[in-house]
Amino acid sequence: MTSCPIRFDPLSPEQLADPYPLYARLRREAPVFYAEAHGLWVVSRYEDVLAVVRDTETFSSQNAVRASVRPLPQPVLDVLATGWPMSPTLTDSDGQVHRRLRLLVTKAFTPKRVAELEGRIRENVDALIDEFADDGRADIIERFAWNLPMFTLTDMLGIPRADIPTLHRWSVSWLRILQATDSVEELVICARDVVTMQRYFMDEFQGRLGEDLMSSLLAARVAGGEPISHEEAMRVMINLIIAGHVTVTRSIGNGLTTLLAHSDQLQAVLNDPDLVPAMVEEVLRFESPAQGLFRTVRKGTVLNGVEIPAGAHLMVHWASANRDEQVFGESDVFDVTRDSMATHVAFGKGVHACLGAPLARLQLKIALPRLFERLPNLRMAAGADTAVRDTIFFARGFKRLEIEWDVHEPSAG
Ligand code: HEM
Repeated sequence: MTSCPIRFDPLSPEQLADPYPLYARLRREAPVFYAEAHGLWVVSRYEDVLAVVRDTETFSSQNAVRASVRPLPQPVLDVLATGWPMSPTLTDSDGQVHRRLRLLVTKAFTPKRVAELEGRIRENVDALIDEFADDGRADIIERFAWNLPMFTLTDMLGIPRADIPTLHRWSVSWLRILQATDSVEELVICARDVVTMQRYFMDEFQGRLGEDLMSSLLAARVAGGEPISHEEAMRVMINLIIAGHVTVTRSIGNGLTTLLAHSDQLQAVLNDPDLVPAMVEEVLRFESPAQGLFRTVRKGTVLNGVEIPAGAHLMVHWASANRDEQVFGESDVFDVTRDSMATHVAFGKGVHACLGAPLARLQLKIALPRLFERLPNLRMAAGADTAVRDTIFFARGFKRLEIEWDVHEPSAG
């Protein structure tokens, strides 16, 4: 009996709806798989994912957030040429360039700064819920999940809240340039947004001497090293804004749908708030918002017995690794008592592991339980097209997610 060929196609309706059977098949039959249609090697087993991210000599982070390395169309490049290069930033740099940037950013993005945000995050969560609590129905992505991480980031970076809608639009354009699946005309519009976003941050740096993270980054010094230049800081800011909001947004939507689909687990968390931290880790493991990111193979190598040529573009598949049955018992079971914080790879591993993980965890630990507390009998809304998935190649989440809840009298907050 011959089985049908493996088709890795993250944007197909079936794989958007439920990619996990395909990942299981990849791990079983072709753990290092060449997806010809995408010119991409997909690494799906946990041990191999770790081997790749630990071997930075062989696997470079160049193009770490580009699903495709095909050159962008000339009109798009022409627009981008009116701004600054999009790289290197933290995510896509290697070696000394990365070490220096990471050290400088770590000086500004401290655990103390994150801890100090807790009160503001609680206020922001409640203020956002207040705006729709009496409506009985909302698109939670539009009304809450985009806004919360953007409130957090603008508070932290010292940027006006009024700029949030524009920053959000620019971030989406940035991702569309990285994905490069839109028409040339649309990509040209996105490229204009990218350049405008770059100019926005270059302007924001003028005369910055505050207490916010942006000012601290500009002032950060490392012994024997150059301070960060405005151009480098601009790329870091954009990196933080994009990495810090599209991921948390998706985790909120993924968390809600996963908890609603597992009412016993939801009930366990509502009965025992001590389970909240483990629930957050389990949501991240079970429905990883960053499904995978990319590496470039510097020199021909062999991974799990498969030869990979120099120059190959490779996807380290966090979401598949997080379902690897060799590492996580009953890996397809959502279990809020599972202890996987140190093991799961939803935040990556190694030198590029997520710098914002503590901030992401803090927001999710506050937001997810609070939504259930404030919106009684929270449930998925009835009707067609109430849960629409986002179509970003390497991310998993919702573009629209309609929920309903009981409204008996105006909420007092
Ligand atoms: C649930 C939310 C989040 C998820 C799932 C997530 C996931 C990841 C992953 C998988 C990486 C590793 C990239 C690689 O190895 O190529 C990463 C890196 C990074 N993340 Fe996050 N992230 C989240 C939230 C955040 C937040 C809130 C921030 C900041 C405000 C942030 C900033 C960064 C930065 C700057 C890097 C690059 C680190 C480096 O290359 O040294 N992330 N993230």
